[in-house]
Amino acid sequence: MKTSDIRIAPSILSADFSRLGEEVRAIEAAGADLVHFDVMDNHYAPNLTIGPLVCEAIRPHVTIPIDVHLMVEPVDALIPLFAKAGANFITFHPEASRHVDRTLSLIREHGCKAGLVFNPATPLALLDHVMDKLDMALLMSVNPGFGGQKFIPAIIGKVKALRARIDAYRATDGQDIWLEVDGGVKADNIGAIRQAGADTFVAGSAVFGAPDADKGYRTIMQQLREQAAPK
Ligand code: DX5
Ligand code: ZN
Repeated sequence: MKTSDIRIAPSILSADFSRLGEEVRAIEAAGADLVHFDVMDNHYAPNLTIGPLVCEAIRPHVTIPIDVHLMVEPVDALIPLFAKAGANFITFHPEASRHVDRTLSLIREHGCKAGLVFNPATPLALLDHVMDKLDMALLMSVNPGFGGQKFIPAIIGKVKALRARIDAYRATDGQDIWLEVDGGVKADNIGAIRQAGADTFVAGSAVFGAPDADKGYRTIMQQLREQAAPK
């Protein structure tokens, strides 16, 4: 895989919220492929973060897609709000929706790409009957709730298993499904995660917590990309 086939999605959970417009402009200028937008409700996830109003506020600041990761329960009522606020991808946790197939359809009906998110202990079997409704499958490599947690090594095997599923599905003429990994992704493990088969990488604290001598996240973005696809 070429470096250009690797997508980096900085999570703004670790950005400076008092300067969010500036922060998202900086990551786009530094080569980010997506803005990862973590929504937590203090019910499904043990934290309270940002909603559609913030999505709408950052939308004019970037041209890259906004990748909304819903860690909320219930899910459905927020979909039209995020679609209207300019979200491009909307992913949710299957445990948080009573009717997973319906929620996936609802996301596409609102003109967004749809994805399911798997917590570390959630089995991939939940994919069995909905592959045709997915544009993305997101594997959590930490438990939802906070930036800056440590990558759970057992997820490498799960990435491999998901890669095999997606490849087998594509071989039967199925659509492309992005394989995203979220949680504890750093320059020193992104290569192994890529080797296991991921193509899209969320990085929050690694990007926004970087020393950033260049004041624009260029060094860390380049490092992540290079480590993901060593020459
Ligand atoms: C965790 C969030 C992640 C988190 C990633 O619940 O879904 O997107 O912000 O942050 P890091 O990269 O710091 O683990
Ligand atoms: Zn996330």
